[in-house]
Amino acid sequence: MPPYIPLIIDEKIMAYSDVRDLEWPNYEDLYLPKLVPFLRDAKQALQYIKDLQLGKDAIILATYPRSGTHWIWEITGMLLKGKAEYSKVSREQVFVEGLSDMSQMQSYNGVISTHVPFEWLPKQHVDNGGKIIYVVRNPKDTAVSIHSFLCSIGLIRSNTFEEFIHELYLGRKAMYGGWFEYNKSFIQEARRRDQILMLSYEKLKRNTEAEIRRLASFLGVKCTEGLITEISELTSFSKLQQADKSVREDKKMADIMKELQLNEAPTVYRKGEIGDWKNYFTVALNEEFDKAYAERMNDVDLQIEFE
Ligand code: A3P
Repeated sequence: MPPYIPLIIDEKIMAYSDVRDLEWPNYEDLYLPKLVPFLRDAKQALQYIKDLQLGKDAIILATYPRSGTHWIWEITGMLLKGKAEYSKVSREQVFVEGLSDMSQMQSYNGVISTHVPFEWLPKQHVDNGGKIIYVVRNPKDTAVSIHSFLCSIGLIRSNTFEEFIHELYLGRKAMYGGWFEYNKSFIQEARRRDQILMLSYEKLKRNTEAEIRRLASFLGVKCTEGLITEISELTSFSKLQQADKSVREDKKMADIMKELQLNEAPTVYRKGEIGDWKNYFTVALNEEFDKAYAERMNDVDLQIEFE
């Protein structure tokens, strides 16, 4: 992939769309969000990520969108630094497919964030036993969070939740292959590879200090109980929401959105709750979703909290 080619965006692509008309970039059956590398050439971008040669101490933070990436990225950064201190750079600086020049990630030795499915992760990192933090969040809250985010960037309208679920979440065009396929393959890989730490948003929320301790041990970081408590407090939803506005020295999220001609200040820190889906799913939609979940996850042993 060339290092940087400015993207000419068709205005129609980025204007508010009917959910049904929203065309994601895709490679065969894998639909991807509207990010510059995917809009240029989805197949090439995926291949570039798969071929990335990361540094030997790199850690991949693998998440389906809106599963708590920013939160866990911040906690991980504090653990690695050994200090309860917010990062001055935003997580978007290391969001590989959000970068118009992904070559910045060659030889990168820190935490890199991506939503690509397991099979597209940097192969050399996976084959060499490189560390991967994988986070799962219950699919109903994830759906609400993605829908709200897409509304906040101006891609879809807020009255479209049910259509969104049908067309872009349960349907074939669900981004990154959809919540089900994405998580099924990561769960299977996490069960057979020590290099993957599987975290759950709900467990982290309910039992924050114990989960931070587990993450510290996976990272091989020694830290005091005092530090764990401090990290837990500093990364609570309200503190992190505030810090994100005041601490960052870059505007990478705004830059990404500007390049795509979308709203430059989307809502990343929205509610941070378990069970907010109840405010969005009708009884009928919930029944339909539960049926789809039971069918599609019947071969996976996943205990996940919905409320
Ligand atoms: P909601 O939209 O449900 O509020 P990601 O970082 O992967 O984009 O995920 C964003 C989701 O994580 C948002 O969910 C956001 O509010 C939530 N989140 C961020 N920080 C959090 C925290 N400290 N505690 C709980 N949830 C948090």
